[in-house]
Amino acid sequence: MTGNADAKNFDRRAFVSSAAASVLVLPSQATLAATPITPHQTEGPFYPDRKDLFADIDNDLVLIASKAKQAGGKILHLRGTVLGSHGQPLPEQVVEIWQCDINGRYLSRKDWSLRRLRDSYFQGFGSTFTNTDGEYSFRTIRPVPYTGRTPHIHVKVRNSSGDELTTQMYVAGDTGNAQDGLYNHLSRSERQQVTVDLRHTTNNDLVGFFDIVVPWRT
Ligand SMILES: [Fe+2]
Repeated sequence: MTGNADAKNFDRRAFVSSAAASVLVLPSQATLAATPITPHQTEGPFYPDRKDLFADIDNDLVLIASKAKQAGGKILHLRGTVLGSHGQPLPEQVVEIWQCDINGRYLSRKDWSLRRLRDSYFQGFGSTFTNTDGEYSFRTIRPVPYTGRTPHIHVKVRNSSGDELTTQMYVAGDTGNAQDGLYNHLSRSERQQVTVDLRHTTNNDLVGFFDIVVPWRT
C-alpha cells in the first residue's frame, strides 16, 4: 500500500506551483497560530468492512487498481496537513478516509440502502501516510448527500502509539449543512474547523484543504 500510495501522493507545493495561475488555492490552516484540536465526530455505522473487494486501498479512491474505468462523481483532490497538539506538522501519521459513492452507498455490509446500486468503480475507502512535512493527499469524489446527512467525508488519523482521532469533513456552502444534526451539534468555531472550501482546478476537478489538529504530540 505505501509504495503505491507514495507514488500517487500529490505534492502540495508542486500542485500550487503548477496550477497557481488558474487555481484559487486557500492558505493552509497550518499557517495559523494556536489552532485548536479538530473536533471529534462519530465514526458512524459504515466504517468499510468490504476492503477485500479491491486490490488496493491507497489514496486514489477514483481509480481502483486493475480497473480501467473511473468512479462516477466530481473528482476532488483532498489535501491537508496533520498537526500535533502544539501545532507542529506530524510525519508518518496514518490518514484514512471513507465516504459513500455517487449513488449514496458505503463500502459496508451495514449500509442497508440496498435499493441503490453500488458504484463498483469507487474505492470507498483510502489510506495513506503523512510525509515529512505532515502532509497527506487523496483523490476522491466530492461527497454527496444520503438520507439524513449532508455531504461529508469521514476521516481518521492514527499514529504508531495507538492514538487516534476520528472526525468528518464538510463542504462549505452546501445547502444540506443547515439541516444536518451532527454538523449543527458542533459549535460555530468547531464547524469552521471541519468545513472546507472547494475550488475548481484548471481541468475542472475540485481541490480542498483540510488540516487536522490531533490531541497528541508525535
Ligand atoms: Fe457518513
